[in-house]
Amino acid sequence: SAQEIFSSAITKSGYTYDDLICLPGHINFGVHDVNLTTRFSRKITLKTPIVSSPMDTVTESNMAIAMALEGGLGVIHTNLSIEAQANEVARVKKFKAGFIIDPVCVPPTMTLEELDQLKSKLGFTGFPVTENGQMGRPLLGLVTKRDTDFITDRKTRLSAIMTPLSQLVTEKEGIDLKQANETLQKSKKGKLPIITNTNLLVALVARTDIKKNVEFPNATKHPVNKELLVAAAIGTRPADRERVRALAAARVDAIIIDSSQGDSVFQHEMIKWIKKEFPEIQVVAGNVVTKQQAKHLIECGADALRVGMGIGSICTTQEVCACGRAQASAVYNVAKLANLYGVPILADGGISSPGHIVKALSLGAGAAMCGSLLAGTSETPGEYFYSEEGKRLKRYRGMGSIDAMKKGSDDRYFGTTSAIKVAQGVSGTVQDKGSIHRYIPYLTQGIRHGMQDIGAKSVSELQDMLQQGHLRFELRSTAAQREGGVHGLHSFERKLFD
Ligand code: XMP
Repeated sequence: SAQEIFSSAITKSGYTYDDLICLPGHINFGVHDVNLTTRFSRKITLKTPIVSSPMDTVTESNMAIAMALEGGLGVIHTNLSIEAQANEVARVKKFKAGFIIDPVCVPPTMTLEELDQLKSKLGFTGFPVTENGQMGRPLLGLVTKRDTDFITDRKTRLSAIMTPLSQLVTEKEGIDLKQANETLQKSKKGKLPIITNTNLLVALVARTDIKKNVEFPNATKHPVNKELLVAAAIGTRPADRERVRALAAARVDAIIIDSSQGDSVFQHEMIKWIKKEFPEIQVVAGNVVTKQQAKHLIECGADALRVGMGIGSICTTQEVCACGRAQASAVYNVAKLANLYGVPILADGGISSPGHIVKALSLGAGAAMCGSLLAGTSETPGEYFYSEEGKRLKRYRGMGSIDAMKKGSDDRYFGTTSAIKVAQGVSGTVQDKGSIHRYIPYLTQGIRHGMQDIGAKSVSELQDMLQQGHLRFELRSTAAQREGGVHGLHSFERKLFD
């Protein structure tokens, strides 16, 4: 049992996911019967046990929207100005499937030449024309391929060739997607601007998006107002209280206090202050790896804990600071303590496969927080570029890398007051993984297969088995670990899913 494996009286050693293997149990249900519903915090439940990390190459609003639609949750990183971070939260809250809430608008003074450049950069063809080219301003018209294709003089201004508002089919604010769809079908138009009574543009509905728009039955939504849930990270400086106020005003659902060593007086004070000022917001404290750290944060009022120190793919904390803990030991020990208080934990970092998520859940985590696993998907911030060998890549960097710390994340490492910035992370690249909407279903199906092999039909059943000592693990020798991976081939190709 996990109890036997992690009992420090016997092992005096730390283990991580790859040191362990779960022994199979008895299967009496299908893989689709496996229920992944789990607890993110005291009050938030997820249908997908995956959370995207608050890192500036992983989670902004596009990622948070995609994660919430897929049943997980995104945590907006804090390397942004207060206003920009609150705007990212607001974008998630405003999201309505099928509605483009911040379409790129153009001013009537723009020339066709300039529009051509914008089109080739963005890859789409229809644009609302608004006063000053800004969102939320009066809609003046629409330019689509039909208006622009046959004009030879590319110096012509859009005001001369756009379809003006008086000839456009529009709908009023408050309309739902079904009605918008009907209007598009009836009018045979490609784009439907949504405006207020005073003609201010509030959204755009595109026929192509409606065709793509699938149902998201697992979406993480508020039970009453149906808005997607979103979390955001903050630091522990007194000035971060202003950040909390702005995030609360943007209706954030959970605040993650982002620190590599969570058991500090700064964090204790921050948790107590948020819980007093904004009791409705869930507070995720951390990071911790020991029971004692965890107990301190829970006693301050934490609603969930983030577990992991120096084990992330981009981390150098264990090398530089000699502090941290092997992740399986950290997850098991902290979860055991937190469970006594009914506080869920997030296994943060070191996850590079669905199997690692199965192990994290088997050791008591409510969900896995992932950076590198999700980096390189199309919803992460940043542009793709090509390596010399022609591989499509995106940047992924530690929040403790020098570049990221210069943008503000040094507070995570208590580095704001020192003249010398000591890196606790690196900066690198990851390969294109496609969209979250294809990638998360692959991960969750992998997790379901793992749980089926173990014989657990739900996360709660898995964790009951853990507590009762019915979940069996074995430690793996180095040779056994090698044997558990691909071996003995001259070369091979790895396709993850189809
Ligand atoms: P993965 O393995 O998913 O890890 O890429 C992501 C987690 O690593 C933490 N993190 C860091 N830790 N130096 C560190 O020691 C860093 O520069 C750094 N950046 C992120 C963080 O907990 C994240 O969720």
